[in-house]
Amino acid sequence: MCGIIGVTARDGNVVPLVLEGLERLEYRGYDSVGVAVNAGGRILVRKASGKLADVRRRLALDSLVGSTAIGHTRWATHGAPNDVNAHPHEDCDGSIALVHNGVIRNYASLREELASRGHRLRSETDTELIAHLIEEGVKAGLPVIEALAGAISRLDGSYALAILVAGEPGRIYFARMRSPLILGFGEGVNAVASDIPALLHLTRRIMTLEDGEFGWISPDRVEIYRLGAGGYERLKAIEVQARVKTVEWTLEKASKGGYPHFMIKEIYEQPQALQDTYNGAVEAPEVSRAARLIVEAPRVYVVGAGTSYHAGLVFSYYLSRLAGVASIPLISSEFKFYESTVGEGDVVVAVSQSGETYDTLEAVRAYKARGAVVIGVTNVVGSALDRLGDLTLYIRAGPEIGVAATKTFTSQVMVLQLLAIRAAEARGALDPSEAREKAGILAAAPQVASEAIRSSEPLAKLLASRGNWRSIYVLGRGLGYPIAKEGALKIKEIAYLHAEAYPAGESKHGPIALVEDGFPVFLVATSDSPEIAGNALEMAARGADVMVLKPSDMELDLKSSERIRILSMPGGGLLLEPYSLTPFFQLLAYYKAVQSGYDPDKPRNLAKTVTVE
Ligand code: F6R
Repeated sequence: MCGIIGVTARDGNVVPLVLEGLERLEYRGYDSVGVAVNAGGRILVRKASGKLADVRRRLALDSLVGSTAIGHTRWATHGAPNDVNAHPHEDCDGSIALVHNGVIRNYASLREELASRGHRLRSETDTELIAHLIEEGVKAGLPVIEALAGAISRLDGSYALAILVAGEPGRIYFARMRSPLILGFGEGVNAVASDIPALLHLTRRIMTLEDGEFGWISPDRVEIYRLGAGGYERLKAIEVQARVKTVEWTLEKASKGGYPHFMIKEIYEQPQALQDTYNGAVEAPEVSRAARLIVEAPRVYVVGAGTSYHAGLVFSYYLSRLAGVASIPLISSEFKFYESTVGEGDVVVAVSQSGETYDTLEAVRAYKARGAVVIGVTNVVGSALDRLGDLTLYIRAGPEIGVAATKTFTSQVMVLQLLAIRAAEARGALDPSEAREKAGILAAAPQVASEAIRSSEPLAKLLASRGNWRSIYVLGRGLGYPIAKEGALKIKEIAYLHAEAYPAGESKHGPIALVEDGFPVFLVATSDSPEIAGNALEMAARGADVMVLKPSDMELDLKSSERIRILSMPGGGLLLEPYSLTPFFQLLAYYKAVQSGYDPDKPRNLAKTVTVE
């Protein structure tokens, strides 16, 4: 996730407007910043790694002048967060500059192709390739709009683009596919940006672009085209006008995308985050490399803390089920008790959203010192884990501001599922076509998450309003167990309600003693464990208030009754169930916190990144 903006005005200097927009976009990424202006047909670019305030001062961004400019705030996905990889990126001779939010999946093949045709590639980014693709069209004599159409039709993945072309000083070209992009229309000034807050200082007249749309704006005009199977067509002016809406949001509300808190915004961002995760990982050679290391290793350890540990449990589960590879999942702070078993060539899969969690880094250092190979799974390019690991898999969820991990959990799960699928392929447990089919199933995860959020919302709100719970159980079997653990953690940390998760089969070995009339028990039914129906019945028989969360396509020998309520979520099979069953608990925790008057973004006693033991 990155933030992009472009502003073009009839007269005056738009750089201050671009910088103000970037300030409001910084929540989308903050590892590098850049601005490009078209100063009378010459493009000037200033960019560097660092936060906006710092780069602004160091590079004197305020001294740039131009009536057409683009800007970018980065959250690295391809290439480290350094000066060269910062956006804007240019073509060979600096006559095209562009900013990008998204992930280009066919990056490796495009890069090879462009390099073989003699393009001078300066950065490690996927973005730069787009500038060179447009350059080829322009140099072949095509109008820019055709060159842009040709370039984007070569891209597989997600993109929101804003582009300057030296020879067309008043124009900003744009394009959108699976990454957010809006247009804003003011008086003698038009703009393009990732989201509404970035434009509220310019205008409230906004139009949201759809996937496959591209075009250009000038200070007084807009042209929009739609990419289709047989080429592209221009949208009629009347259609464009009908889609322009006036937004009433306050700036505060807008910076949270219209949501009252970052946590709920991030819950709702999961489909987009999953799309970016999928695009970035489904064909990534590093995932296959990591998989080969895993299947060749004598032992595999999986370490993580909190939510990342739960993602690690999900990984161990799929690794065992799909690849037949045993692994040892460990809570990071417990690493030293198992250290003596670690040896040369063992693999440690270290999962950490921030890449900075002290205990996880300590585990990695200790195991590495004993000869283990470290595969880091993180959301932060350039983080300590990224630097320490032998290989890093990025989850590409975009920055997460709410203290509770939400979208980073589901994105971690997706990368780890793909890793398990590749490991199964490397081990011969799945043949290549079966592996392709399994990875293909995950393409539906954004849709499943989106439907799950929609179905969960009213249920979570309703259940959260039951104010008399003192303690709850969240139980699962198989895949359902780590999902239950993650659900219970959300409820504890955000709603301050005691929630305990354990494998449902354990009830009769002790915990069921607590169950009495009205005791709330959530059961996470996953399609690997229909026997959970028995656990629901045994709880209901003791007076528990049982709520069974299940995929709609799962057969369960259970009916709704006075004591048992079945909450149906989208189906799609075992690989999609983490996306179907997780959002309910995130939303339940969120609404319970809000209804109790707690701040879900900043739960007491907690910090986003735990850099102490
Ligand atoms: C829970 C949560 C924490 C983190 C844990 C590890 O919502 O956010 O449990 O998952 O502190 O953090 P990372 O993933 O940054 O290592």
